[in-house]
Amino acid sequence: MTTGIFVTGTDTGVGKTVAACALLRAYAARGLRSVGMKPVATGNADSGGNEDVTALEAAGNVDAPAAARNPYALVPAIAPHLAARRTGVQIELARIDAAYRELARFADRIVVEGAGGVFSPLDDEHDMLDIASTIGLPVLLVVGVRLGCLNHALLSALAIRARGLMLAGWVANAIEPGLPFFAENIATIERRLAAPRLATLPWSASGGPRWDGAVPI
Ligand SMILES: Nc1ncnc2c1ncn2[C@@H]1O[C@H](COP(=O)(O)OP(=O)(O)O)[C@@H](O)[C@H]1O
Ligand SMILES: [Mg+2]
Repeated sequence: MTTGIFVTGTDTGVGKTVAACALLRAYAARGLRSVGMKPVATGNADSGGNEDVTALEAAGNVDAPAAARNPYALVPAIAPHLAARRTGVQIELARIDAAYRELARFADRIVVEGAGGVFSPLDDEHDMLDIASTIGLPVLLVVGVRLGCLNHALLSALAIRARGLMLAGWVANAIEPGLPFFAENIATIERRLAAPRLATLPWSASGGPRWDGAVPI
């Protein structure tokens, strides 16, 4: 049976893609067919191609249709709802759900990467967490460990739970090499988040870090 997880983060640029790729490789190492999905990507080159979509594709181990792995590829490098509006696109949750169901034919594990953070808007009414709700996925929170991350981590967890979603766990991502009080920051989140820290990803100058812990699904 295919299972999936929705990867969100404390902000944009905190390591959602890095963590999602590490998780995809961890599934592959366990002999599972894994595929990454980026429902809404912004900042696509006119010629096609998006860094996150490309990275997720390389980290997974099955061939699946590009339209299912990335149903919305928006060109402007701005917030998804603004990019959609600017290009006359209406982001439909039903289409994202259908794309996920198609991917399920190809893989045992689907790692779905949101854009931005939990409340990043999709349109005037919906946000990233609606993708997790619509598909019916537990949520993995990537915390980019840096100044400000405690507040963002706790707010994100509150939002996830307020929407009735399951916070499967969190990942501590060492986004800033040599950050003072790295361990203390992690310990603080650990005490307050009431969800397991599934992995700690070290800062890795070359190549993606390895997933060092239990997998969420
Ligand atoms: N553990 C890490 N070690 C080194 N660089 C990292 C690490 N995590 C993230 N980065 C870098 O930080 C940037 C943002 O990470 P990314 O995974 O793209 O974030 P997001 O998907 O949340 O926007 C990328 O350039 C990425 O290579
Ligand atoms: Mg990303």
